[in-house]
Parts: sequence; structure tokens; C-alpha cells
Amino acid sequence: MNATMELQRAPMGSLALPSIGPLAAALEARLSPGAVIRRDEPMARRTTLRVGGAADLLVEPDCERDLAVVVEESQRLQVPWRVLGRGSNLLVRDAGVRGVVITLGRPVFSVIEVDGLRLRCGAGARLKEVSQEARRRGLAGLEFLAGIPGSVGGALRMNAGAWNSMTFEVLDAVRYMGPDGSVVERPAAEVPARYRRCDLFRDHIALGALFRCSESTPAEVEKTLNELNAKRWASQPAAPSAGCIFKNPSAIPAGRLIDELGLKGSRVGGASVSMEHGNFIVNDGRATAGDVLALIEQIRSRAREQRGVELETEVEILGE
Ligand code: EPU
Repeated sequence: MNATMELQRAPMGSLALPSIGPLAAALEARLSPGAVIRRDEPMARRTTLRVGGAADLLVEPDCERDLAVVVEESQRLQVPWRVLGRGSNLLVRDAGVRGVVITLGRPVFSVIEVDGLRLRCGAGARLKEVSQEARRRGLAGLEFLAGIPGSVGGALRMNAGAWNSMTFEVLDAVRYMGPDGSVVERPAAEVPARYRRCDLFRDHIALGALFRCSESTPAEVEKTLNELNAKRWASQPAAPSAGCIFKNPSAIPAGRLIDELGLKGSRVGGASVSMEHGNFIVNDGRATAGDVLALIEQIRSRAREQRGVELETEVEILGE
């Protein structure tokens, strides 16, 4: 049996869409040899919260042309697609994800290049790597990215932030692919972004970012990195989580509210509210997505009933 036939056969008990087999076969025929195509890929392995079922199909394109082919074939066969970053802000439901999950995990998408006081970074690059490269070059301004366990693409999509800075505040330009496969580079100032949100990247695929830095020294940048790192570990848990679960409402930070409601330590199955920070739900290794979702609902009801605050999730919730 060749690889294509293996891909066309639906695994036992698969919930996959019927058009997944034909899509897998079409991609097998058209993508570069270095591309990865996997049926029923467990998403728990690809998210920091470590819960959730399998994606029907996971594809790692090996170049931008491959990426355009995945989008084109998915649209032709009417299979929904979406892009996964490092899965650090994601809650995948237990029955998994119907359709294709695309990841920019191949090295070609993670290149980081210095251009004067700017860093040009591929969407697959880890934010930690970006901040380390900036440190090596003595470039300041990207230290806040160091503790965010995501990729550049995820940071663009979420306008990720920490320590009162946000991704779009340090961006000169963004590069992305449209749903028709065309690639565009645009000044970041033309792309609307808000707190934890950039709508462009809901249906456009981030390919890269041009970050703006200021001149400093490696020692100075390292000092700031160490300070932020110490602050982070003093206030946030190390156990598996998806970062902050809720957006901060205007009235009060979600973590303080949940703390004041006495909900730290409350538990559903293997999911509990972190004792270190009220806005984190941690997985003790046994949690299901159902546990996490039930705990989210308990917190939301208490916040609504006792404080009249409507908490909105910050993590993306995906799947069935
Ligand atoms: N607080 C409590 N109890 C808690 C947690 C927090 O009283 O259990 C209080 C703190 O003492 C502080 C306030 O609530 O006065 C805010 O807490 P913190 O400084 O920890 O910041 P945050 O608003 O909870 C935000 C981001 C984090 C980011 C930190 C650090 C959101 C939803 N969260 O947290 O981002 O790391 O600032 O800059 O905007 C994420 O996006 O996933 C995330 C973790």
C-alpha cells in the first residue's frame, strides 16, 4: 500500500468529514516531498493545555506554495481549514476538529533576520526565539514577548501582549496570505488591531512580522528579560494551561475578580483554577476539554450572579 492509499482510508471510529480522504490524496499528490500530512492527529499534543480530540487532517506545508495549495484544495473540496500556532491560547474540544489544521512548523516559516534596528520574523518563529535574537543583537523593545509561549503568527492573530505592551505596538509591517493564495506585505499601521484581537488574521494567514526595536546592549536587554521572567514566575503557574482564560473586563482584572470570589483551587475533574493566578485554569494531567469548559461555565455564572460581570473567554475554543 502506498502512502496515498493509507491516507485515503478512514481510520476505525474516525469522525472525519467524508471529503477528508480525497483532500488528503490531492495534497499528497501536489505538496512538496518535505510537507507533512497526518490523519486524525491528536490536538492534546499540540496545545499547552494538553486537552482535546484529534484533527481530521493536520498539514505542515514545506513552502508558501504548499500553503496556497492546501488552502486552494480545501476550498475546492469545501473542507474547513484553520491555522494552528503553538497552541498556547487554545482549548480544543474533546471530539476534535473537523477539517484541516495547518501548522507552519517547517523551518522555512521560522526564519529570523536582522535588518538594522528591525527584526524580520517568520510566522512559525517562537516568540521566545525572537526575544533571544533581539537580546543577542542588543535590540530592545521585544522583551515582553519572551514569556509568551506562542509563535509570531499567533501573536499577530491575537495581538498578544504582556507587561502593558502589545504585539501591534512594536510592529512595522505584516506579511500574510489571502484566501486566494496571494501574498501581501502591508504597514502594520494599516491593519486594525485591538486588545487581544486582530480580525484580519481570522481569514488571512500570517506569514511574518517586521518588528521595530531600539538600540541597546545585550546586557541591558538581558536585565529587562530577567526582571520580566522573575515577575512572571512569581505570579503565573508553571503547570499546563492556556494562559489567561478570560479577557480582562473593564471593571476589574479577571484574575482579581476570580480570586475575590474565592474560586482559586475550585476543580472539575482534572481541571482547576490555579492557586497562583485566578485567571489560569491548570491541567493536573487528567483533565478533559469537558472539565475545562465546565469550570469556565461555573466561573462565568458566579461572576455574573455575584458581581454582575460578564466574563468573555480570551482563549480560542475550537472543535466539536
Ligand atoms: N490578581 C489578584 N489575584 C490573582 C491574580 C491577579 O488579585 O489571582 C490581581 C493582581 O495583583 C493585579 C491584577 O489582579 O493587581 C492584575 O493581575 P496581573 O498583574 O497578573 O495581570 P493580568 O491582568 O491578570 C495580564 C495578561 C497576561 C499577562 C499579564 C502580565 C490578560 C487577560 N492577561 O494579566 O496575559 O501575562 O498581564 O502582563 O490581559 C494571556 O494573555 O494569556 C496572559 C497570561
